[in-house]
Amino acid sequence: MVRQHVNPLSRFFQLPLELPPPAALFTDPGHPIHLDIGCARGRFLLALAQHQPGVNHLGVEIRRGLVQAAEADRQALELGNLHYLFCNANVSLEAWLTALPVGQLDLVSIQFPDPWFKKKHHKRRVLQPALLLAIAKALAPGRRLFLQSDVLAVIEPMVALTEACGCFTRPSADARPWRSSNPLPLPTERERYVLDQGMPVYRVLYERNEAPLPELSTLEQWLDAASDPADNPLDPAAPTA
Ligand SMILES: C[S@@+](CC[C@H](N)C(=O)[O-])C[C@H]1O[C@@H](n2cnc3c(N)ncnc32)[C@H](O)[C@@H]1O
Repeated sequence: MVRQHVNPLSRFFQLPLELPPPAALFTDPGHPIHLDIGCARGRFLLALAQHQPGVNHLGVEIRRGLVQAAEADRQALELGNLHYLFCNANVSLEAWLTALPVGQLDLVSIQFPDPWFKKKHHKRRVLQPALLLAIAKALAPGRRLFLQSDVLAVIEPMVALTEACGCFTRPSADARPWRSSNPLPLPTERERYVLDQGMPVYRVLYERNEAPLPELSTLEQWLDAASDPADNPLDPAAPTA
């Protein structure tokens, strides 16, 4: 049985894994790469890889059983432009991203991430400052970061963090506050469920701009201040004593 949720901060998931390079994952390793973070059972990528044979798709997922099942599907279809890897994205992705040839990463998607609603669990959410900076470092200007969720309380902080980083802009044609449609040609499993229920989906497509990366500590301090504005003396909006 595959667990519904795992705690990414538990000691087991803090062990870094060395993820194989594109040459060990794809038949044509020079193709542009789409990285989907938190791909779950992988059916979205399985369909997308067949729809986009000129793109290499990598799904990473922290629940190992889902990755094993997804990999079995991929192997049955003998898809050379798709791979799934078990890892904690917050621990093991940065080194893999850093080793990529410049310009090869075309798109990063984070779709319907686990919400971890309680404030004390917000640090378990997948989009943390270090991962965002690793993504920003690996994406060349013009390359894309796609975020979507059905939970405003989850997507709003992701958007705020991404914009605080300064390395991403939204194309001028991208509707605000949320895109009206999915820029990807196929829905994820969660997206299909949400749309079937008639519930809204909140989406933003960012493009990497030319701005240099901020310091990690600066972005972490920003996040702390944004999470707890009343406690933070640096925040001009904080009430004075
Ligand atoms: C709510 S599911 C969404 C799955 C899929 N993206 C979709 O839209 O249908 C979020 C997925 O992210 C995975 N996940 C959460 N934290 C992760 C982490 N730190 N690294 C890798 N995967 C993670 C979860 O195990 C889960 O499968």
